[in-house]
Amino acid sequence: MSSDLIKLNFSNVDMLDKEWCAYQAKVDDIHHHLEQLFKDSVGWIGYPLQNQSVLLQQITNIANEIREHAEILVVIGVGGSYLGARAIQDALTPYFKIKKGAIEVVYVGQNLSGAYIAQLLDYLADKNVYVNVISKSGTTMETALAFRVLKQYMDERYGIEAIERIIVTTDAENGLLKEIADHTGYRQFIIPANIGGRYSVLTPVGLLPVAVAGIDIDELINGAKHAAMSLNHSRLERNNAYCYAVFRHFLYEQGYKVELLASFEPSLKNFHEWWMQLFGESEGKERKGLFPSAASYSTDLHAIGQFIQEGNPILFETLLYFEEVQEDVSVPYDTQNDDRLNYLSNRTFNEMNNISRQGTALAHIAGGVPVIQLQLPKLDAYHIGYLIYFFMKACAMSACLLGVNPFNQPGVEAYKNKMLALLQKIQIVN
Ligand code: PA5
Repeated sequence: MSSDLIKLNFSNVDMLDKEWCAYQAKVDDIHHHLEQLFKDSVGWIGYPLQNQSVLLQQITNIANEIREHAEILVVIGVGGSYLGARAIQDALTPYFKIKKGAIEVVYVGQNLSGAYIAQLLDYLADKNVYVNVISKSGTTMETALAFRVLKQYMDERYGIEAIERIIVTTDAENGLLKEIADHTGYRQFIIPANIGGRYSVLTPVGLLPVAVAGIDIDELINGAKHAAMSLNHSRLERNNAYCYAVFRHFLYEQGYKVELLASFEPSLKNFHEWWMQLFGESEGKERKGLFPSAASYSTDLHAIGQFIQEGNPILFETLLYFEEVQEDVSVPYDTQNDDRLNYLSNRTFNEMNNISRQGTALAHIAGGVPVIQLQLPKLDAYHIGYLIYFFMKACAMSACLLGVNPFNQPGVEAYKNKMLALLQKIQIVN
């Protein structure tokens, strides 16, 4: 159980031995002091190793109840309180249908679009509904406003039964959502106090929505547990999460401004968004940090591929790929061969996707773009659980190498304060 599931290839990132050794000393130091320095924010490090069987059973029971009594679950949340669930759901559920035995899971509260919420209410009209509202602080504007609308909708539609149909995921003690949940009598899941939003996807924040979507949460946690055990070494040769952190920091120091995470399965698009928030909110402070960006290949090779190959050399690329993706199609043989593609007949699409990945790496390396490759054996719940933990561990290390606090987000307050001031002005005028 101690082997690293992620293979890391960085053949064109040139680092000298003495640079590597200097990083090793810093990594050792951060690794040994991280939990002590940020003791209020590192609950996620040991979380998958704790015995979660009771919690997982409770989540499974409620997910089963929801699937039995509803046709749709509306998840309300923003930032770390929604991106992870949506990422896992999209990565692991079919493209064109709902997973067998599961129900539809939709998200609201992550924007202030009136059209979005109006159309959602319309969409719910002929469906049986449950709601899961998620907010650690219990005071986030987008979430609170969407919940106000959905709460009223559920009360009007279901009367007293609405209490059973709304599940709250929030802090154990603090926040307005906690107060509302207590006095109304909603069932609650707790977000551990020492796990911040963008590190919380493996807690009930992410687990309840994805369980309703039909994902095996035991496997997800087993994968994360495997990662928690294998990525607990400070030696770079034994910890690929730290190696990845070191390479991206090294490239940042070389002057690169952007990291482009690119993958080859369209279902990972929302996983990219979770990753962008994790790194963007953890590192982008004190005028430092790489800008996290993402692309879905081969789609985006026909969009921003030109820029990557020959444009302003501000970026390096991290290619994420899975050796085995379930389901595949072979190119059929065509007796006419008008399109001259018979030389590809019997090759599978997944095979060609993999070859396109190799070609992309070769072309971008030849174009002078540093390429880091992260390879996992299989796209399934176990490996996604592993990957999530891998990125969280890498992110904490990377932010510390940069010299910033990985767990706060002071910059987000600026937007919130300005918006509140403007809203209060409207109140005074009215
Ligand atoms: O990572 C974070 O801490 C943030 O992105 C939060 O998750 C986000 O702002 C939502 O906060 P809350 O869960 O308190 O509503």
